[in-house]
Amino acid sequence: MCGIIGYIGIKPEEILYQGLERLEYRGYDSSGMTIQRDNDFVTYKSIGDVKKIKNQIVFKDEFGIGIAHTRWATHGKININNCHPHFSSNGNIALVHNGIIENYEELKEQLIKKGKKFEGETDSEVIAKLFENKLDINDIRRVKKKIKGSYALAIISKTSNCIYFAKNKSPLYIGIGENLAIIASDPTCFVGYTDNYITLDDNQYGRFSQKEIVIYDKDDKIVSIKPTKLDFKYLYEDRAGYEHYMIKEIYQSRLVLENIIEKYRTFEIKEKLKQIKSFEFDRIYLIGCGTAYHAGLIGQHYMREEFNIDIFSEIASEVKYKNLNIDEKSLCIFISQSGETADTLSALEYCREKGGKIISITNAEHSSISRHADINLPIYAGQEKAVASTKAYFAQCIVLYILTCFLKGKDYITPLYYFKRQIDFGDDNEIKLLSEYLSKYDKVFFIGRGVDYISALEASLKLKEITYIFSTAQPSGELKHGIIALIDENIPVIVIATDEELFSKTLNNSYEIKARGGKLILFTSLNIDNEIKENFSYIIKINKTQKEFMPLQVILQLQKLAYFTAKDRGNDPDMPRNLAKSVTVE
Ligand code: M6R
Repeated sequence: MCGIIGYIGIKPEEILYQGLERLEYRGYDSSGMTIQRDNDFVTYKSIGDVKKIKNQIVFKDEFGIGIAHTRWATHGKININNCHPHFSSNGNIALVHNGIIENYEELKEQLIKKGKKFEGETDSEVIAKLFENKLDINDIRRVKKKIKGSYALAIISKTSNCIYFAKNKSPLYIGIGENLAIIASDPTCFVGYTDNYITLDDNQYGRFSQKEIVIYDKDDKIVSIKPTKLDFKYLYEDRAGYEHYMIKEIYQSRLVLENIIEKYRTFEIKEKLKQIKSFEFDRIYLIGCGTAYHAGLIGQHYMREEFNIDIFSEIASEVKYKNLNIDEKSLCIFISQSGETADTLSALEYCREKGGKIISITNAEHSSISRHADINLPIYAGQEKAVASTKAYFAQCIVLYILTCFLKGKDYITPLYYFKRQIDFGDDNEIKLLSEYLSKYDKVFFIGRGVDYISALEASLKLKEITYIFSTAQPSGELKHGIIALIDENIPVIVIATDEELFSKTLNNSYEIKARGGKLILFTSLNIDNEIKENFSYIIKINKTQKEFMPLQVILQLQKLAYFTAKDRGNDPDMPRNLAKSVTVE
């Protein structure tokens, strides 16, 4: 993963640092910046989130050329030596890289044989060491021919007056303003500076100065430049008085629902839905990673209720290896908050090659996944900053509900209005009591049946990613086929039960756990008598709403449970260890 930015103009330190803040969702293991002025470099590097580098930087109002990087470690430990920018052997050329160089070991061996020394272990440093004394477009061509894999590169030298770049399979954009130019992994870095930007395609490379941009295609031909207008805002979302983004984002779910209701009654969105309806298909695939995959499972649940065709949900990283029956009759729906997840993008390309119709559901209309789709359905969740996805999951499920209703010819506005009034965030004090209890355990299991099992999967992912408590989710009927062997008095089991018809079976499975010493916690919308209540150490009551929305109603409180438990364990819920918000490597 990682985010890169390069800039030419006045106040480079300020603009690059602000860019790093905007790119931090791509990784926060370390950050670095190199500024070229008067034929010399000044470099800053720091471990941890980007705030850590701020104190080191000497901010200047003068003109300068600079590059910066925020890292999510793939090759090599999190230390200063592996922190970008990396340098050529003589230190005259500096480079930042996002992506993975697949043949870096082979190249490194060759370079070591030639006497080159390496400071760190990254694949990116190998690219830097492929450069010699000078930097011109021929050097970019030469190096590009040697490296295999994914890359977005920004490269400067001590003497040049421009930034060189190259792109393959990692996003890269150039913002063009008056007397300034910015290159970055995400066009949000341009907001506030320029409204014009170029989206680079795979295999393009070139250079830009304040006055001129030259882009070459894979055949080394100059590409004509057609800038696009930035049609989105970078809304700096502060925490609005909340201690963390995650809790603020959970509470934004109602607002997100309002946005979706408003947008999904407009002509523009209805036209998109009509176009999807006009496609001929006899199979639907819902594809995503992590939480987006879970949203796909909810979508599959909705669609199976309504349509008598095959509907599959797939983990994006597995799609290419499953011999799926994808052809022109397949409607392939890709779900991604960021719209940049490499596994999802790669599955999309695979389905496109197989002839599938490509729909995306994203929270970033300018993203790679949105651009590669035939039709993009936005989720209008606003920026989601916490790594743990909460309001985006909520929004993805709502959009999948709308799509199902539209394809079926059913009204979706009225039910959503009702749901808006019934949304239940629960009682913080009640959830806090439970989180205090859970935070002392090192394993927590979740069980559920039917759609409650999907909520169990999502709740378990949320809990483990920010609390670091080991957690698994199981269909409640599956326990006795193996998992029950793990149950003892040290494992709290969270039972999710919102479906009246399945309740008695789920209850029986809970008693099987209780009989083996497991501690039971119940999240339910059902009315239960005192005799049943006695079996549970905690019961969290969820307000009933239309059955399609019960998974959303229950997840709000389970998201909060993960949040408060992470806090109780002294973790930063917004920036869990080892993770990044956007996963741009396969
Ligand atoms: O941006 P995407 O929705 O494609 O991201 C997919 C997953 O990486 C993401 O949902 C991840 O599982 C979250 N951190 C879960 O909270």
